[in-house]
Amino acid sequence: MNILVTGANGQLGRSLRRALLSADAVVHSAPLSLVQLDDARYFFSDIAIAEEAAAYVLDITDRNKVEEFVAEHDIRLIINCAAYTNVDAAESHPDICHLLNATSVCHLAEAMKKKDGFLVHVSTDYVFGGRFHNRPIAEDAPAAPLGVYGESKLKGEQCVVDSGCRHVILRTAWLYSEFGHNFVKTMLRLAADREVLKVVADQCGTPTYASDLAEAILGIVSSGELDRKQGIYHFSNEGVCSWYDFAHAILHGSFSCKVLPCSSDEYPSSVTRPAYSVLDKTKFKTTFGRTIPHWTESLSRCLAALTPVQ
Ligand SMILES: NC(=O)c1ccc[n+]([C@@H]2O[C@H](COP(=O)([O-])OP(=O)(O)OC[C@H]3O[C@@H](n4cnc5c(N)ncnc54)[C@H](OP(=O)(O)O)[C@@H]3O)[C@@H](O)[C@H]2O)c1
Repeated sequence: MNILVTGANGQLGRSLRRALLSADAVVHSAPLSLVQLDDARYFFSDIAIAEEAAAYVLDITDRNKVEEFVAEHDIRLIINCAAYTNVDAAESHPDICHLLNATSVCHLAEAMKKKDGFLVHVSTDYVFGGRFHNRPIAEDAPAAPLGVYGESKLKGEQCVVDSGCRHVILRTAWLYSEFGHNFVKTMLRLAADREVLKVVADQCGTPTYASDLAEAILGIVSSGELDRKQGIYHFSNEGVCSWYDFAHAILHGSFSCKVLPCSSDEYPSSVTRPAYSVLDKTKFKTTFGRTIPHWTESLSRCLAALTPVQ
């Protein structure tokens, strides 16, 4: 089966490729654009070719290009890792945010519907508005996004469902990895030149290591049971913490920089962030029979991978 991965040079896309390579997949086209594991051939694509992560060039905002790519390479399944992910910038660029997170998702869903293919789409806890007081959020909880990013991702989900294509939607949260920009890398960078860092302690959630999400996606794609298990699922690591707890765990023991808790009011932002956005993963774990590592364990693996070998 031929599988298209979009947004392949982002955090999740790169984590997927690395997971395949560590599972001894065969690289067909250097550098790393076409990778085969068993009878699945993964075509890694992004809007541009990035250094050390070359990919087929595919701009998913262009419906014709998506259809052409799907036809030319006989794509039967798409894993959509492409997105507009800058939550703050989305407030001042709603058009491009909606184009990528909603309209383009329609292009992918329609292309799979025509082919009788399957779409694995990644969404976010931001589709919820944060009215869930200290209770993990189930898939069927009412969506009520607070900003442009959340609204656009909710529309993207609706495009998938309305298209009638076979699909799995995985909502995740607080994604980080060795790649790109994320909270872990920001904390490490800031701690290197500051004595004190103040981090919000009144927003709770669960960090998600992109490697764990990538493994989970590859696991369900190769399970052969996607058809029976269509629907919306929540996936993050296990456990609950605040951004302050997360920062403390990232920097603990390695930096002299002191981490202090503060409240969200001290960081005025154009976006209201959910105070409690812990995703309930029961459905994912029971349906796919998978266990998920605790966030502290996964953070240790990411930090080890980020530390250069002496
Ligand atoms: N990051 C988080 O904290 C977080 C939390 C919850 C859910 N999610 C969801 O998880 C998924 C993966 O997130 P991520 O952090 O891996 O995202 P990411 O690192 O921002 O990667 C997104 C990729 O999409 C590419 N892209 C942009 N415009 C495109 C276009 N027109 N056509 C094709 N590709 C395009 C980007 O390229 P450029 O870099 O060149 O723009 C980038 O390589 C997304 O659906 C996101 O909404 C993320």
